[in-house]
Amino acid sequence: MTTTREGLAPGDGGEAQHLRSSEWFDRDDFAGWVFRSFIKAEGFPEESFRNKPVIGIANTWSEVTNCNAHLRDLADFVKRGVISAGGFPLEFPVLSTAEVQMMPSTMMYRNLLAMDVEESLRAHPFDAGVLLTGCDKTTPGALMGALSADIPSLVCTGGPMMNGHWRGRDVGACTDCHLFWTARRRGDLSPEEHHETEEVVTRSAGHCQVMGTASTMASLTEALGMSLPGSAAIPAGDSRRRAMAYRTGVQAVALARQRLTPSRILTPASFDNAIRVLHAIGGSTNAVIHLMALAGRAEVDLALDRFNELRADTPWLVNLRPSGDWLMEEFFQAGGVPAVIGELGGRIDGSASTVTGLTVAENVAGRRSANHDVIRTAADPLAARGAIVVLRGNLCPDGAVIKVTAADRRKLRHRGPALVFDRTEILEATEDPDLDVTPDTVLIMRGAGPIGGPGMPESGHLPVPQRLLSQGYDDLVRISDARISGTAYGTVVAHVAPEAAIGGPLACVRNGDIIELDVEAGTLNVALSEDELRERAGELDSYAPDVNRGFLALHYEHALQADRGCDLDVLRGRTPADGAVEWRSRRR
Ligand code: FES
Repeated sequence: MTTTREGLAPGDGGEAQHLRSSEWFDRDDFAGWVFRSFIKAEGFPEESFRNKPVIGIANTWSEVTNCNAHLRDLADFVKRGVISAGGFPLEFPVLSTAEVQMMPSTMMYRNLLAMDVEESLRAHPFDAGVLLTGCDKTTPGALMGALSADIPSLVCTGGPMMNGHWRGRDVGACTDCHLFWTARRRGDLSPEEHHETEEVVTRSAGHCQVMGTASTMASLTEALGMSLPGSAAIPAGDSRRRAMAYRTGVQAVALARQRLTPSRILTPASFDNAIRVLHAIGGSTNAVIHLMALAGRAEVDLALDRFNELRADTPWLVNLRPSGDWLMEEFFQAGGVPAVIGELGGRIDGSASTVTGLTVAENVAGRRSANHDVIRTAADPLAARGAIVVLRGNLCPDGAVIKVTAADRRKLRHRGPALVFDRTEILEATEDPDLDVTPDTVLIMRGAGPIGGPGMPESGHLPVPQRLLSQGYDDLVRISDARISGTAYGTVVAHVAPEAAIGGPLACVRNGDIIELDVEAGTLNVALSEDELRERAGELDSYAPDVNRGFLALHYEHALQADRGCDLDVLRGRTPADGAVEWRSRRR
């Protein structure tokens, strides 16, 4: 049961405020007549919407996005909650970023979704928003948009899929998808057996059921205070997911009445809380990018190195794939995010505000792990320090990331020769049985960053070369300027910035150069002097994308690097919906 202090945020007196929607529906002029008349055309009588908080339900439902295929059903429960609390719900579609089906990258379209949500919330007579999300980019994208519009909003995620099962063991998307494919490449699974596995992992609507990006972002949204406590882990098909949607609708009306906007919740303290939870749950490296983008929207001065600072005293607690053993359903049964926050205790800033109107500490009071194999205690963690390390060095002056909890511990300090491929070459090359590769090789892919990708596709989980697989090896150090799926595992360094396509140092690396990775020290270097790197950079050919229209042109013109969240520079910050645009004279 979620407890909320309806509409009463810390610092609020609880007094009712002017409704933004009254600018549409309560005016005695021609425009007011039109606004009311055309809403009535849908069968809504005047008493259903007049003088009531109007709640816009931004729905990322789509038949292309299997993870969000149940969100129309969930929207009905949000509406019931809104109506029960005295509000008027209006559902509207926004771009749905289907992680699996969308090309060239959902990260690029995350920003388009954010624009869609921001402008839809601002342009319509909404007093508050409910963001119905699930699949990887839908949660951060919608949240970024609501934050920039700064209209009171909260997120309702769709929850994880049912656990998959195959031959007596639980399997989850897409950690086990990768394992099945590796087994097939190694010859341990026949083509027929491999085909059989297509139907056992993804059994239902809902997002991937490991601690991938969708589960991570649902968890971090809760940690940020932007969704109801306990909501992230409820399975998609569980009746409590619908009940949570109902309560989200109730709380949206309360937020509207009190004008509790995202910018009042998303403070430095809430970002610190989210980073600590990210470390504790063994979450996705994608979360680093999304949190940096959100901080840019919130105008919070978040440095990439803050992830390392907080890691130092944040233990890894959650034993979920791809880092550990279990799936999201077991995480839910063990207590979910409130239990993780409870176990982190004083490391969390309990005074941070949330959409319940209560503080984080009030939301999770008394909540602890109900299963210590799934959520460990801080006194008995899986590791003393958190999941993700930000690397620096002459190969990544603006940063790179590695998820240590999903890596081969023996390779976290490694020195080996580079074997370099461009993005378009790597798949074919790694299937070559005669590839010149050894277990010490550092496999590098470049040309898959925010500009080169474009949009930084999740191709950084480079295949272990067939030659090594056949020798019994299943990991090697891999480095790229791409991202990796939150469900992936292995000693994989991603998000190298600046990327090769804009002349980053990765573009200068040649086969045989010695790469030095030292995760403990937080460094990633190529054994070349500054002069050598500068000289090689001067020899690089320069290319620019030949695109002059559409969203792609906007992306190429404005996309930021990974360390700034891959957002568009023109989208950082906020334009509060209640603010007026000021005009400047063009005369000199
Ligand atoms: Fe949607 Fe994994 S594909 S969450």
